[in-house]
Amino acid sequence: MSKIAIIGGSGLTELPGLEIINKIELDTPWGKPSAPITVTKVNGIEVLFLPRHGNPHTIPPHKVNYRANLWALNENNISEIIAVNAVGGITEALTPCRIVIPDQLIDYSHSRADSFHEENLSEVKHIDFTHPYSNTLRQKLIDAAADTKLDIVSTGTYAVTQGPRLETAAEVKRLESDGNDIVGMTSMPEASLARELDIDYACCALVVNWAAGKTDDIITMEIIENNLKEGLGKIQSLISTVIKNKQ
Ligand code: HPA
Repeated sequence: MSKIAIIGGSGLTELPGLEIINKIELDTPWGKPSAPITVTKVNGIEVLFLPRHGNPHTIPPHKVNYRANLWALNENNISEIIAVNAVGGITEALTPCRIVIPDQLIDYSHSRADSFHEENLSEVKHIDFTHPYSNTLRQKLIDAAADTKLDIVSTGTYAVTQGPRLETAAEVKRLESDGNDIVGMTSMPEASLARELDIDYACCALVVNWAAGKTDDIITMEIIENNLKEGLGKIQSLISTVIKNKQ
């Protein structure tokens, strides 16, 4: 049975209620991952968990060592990664507390170490990234949502911004006219590094605020944290259904 990993985003620094079998501390050629990898078992299936921002949450999106995180997970022979990401909603359907499984992204981030193929190359490698998220794994999330009668949005384009600041209203207008539905700071280079390692990678995004300028309100950490609290239970049940369906 193939092993699955979960990369937890804001608000998801551990997987509550699961028996911890092991904690793996690893160093990689790219440095240390954000935290030790937690190994758990769900219905006999090994599930690895890594909190992207550390535990406690101290690493901002632009400082995450994405290469070390992906490398460390790959060293543990996983074949699938479900990434959990908190995002702002841009288009009408993407209201706070909704879950979306994006099928596309546009990368506006910069200055991040974003490839394993940089030095001492015997050949230049270009990955195909036409479809940045694994459609097979996306479909498992979409099926799990149907199984649990969870109302999710099953497609969308994720704008990956640099952060850590949120956007201006004008930037969000431009993101919308570019065709983006949600905005967040962490799907890249995570998605392309997973592709470089040939790992099936899908994103389970939780809308935690309306993007800048979409309402008259300013975006506060209180709004974000309240929506995170409300939405994370849904994310957890979605992920545990994907794992149960693996059997
Ligand atoms: N913009 C960028 N990243 C985010 C947002 C947002 O509005 N909300 C949560 N992560």
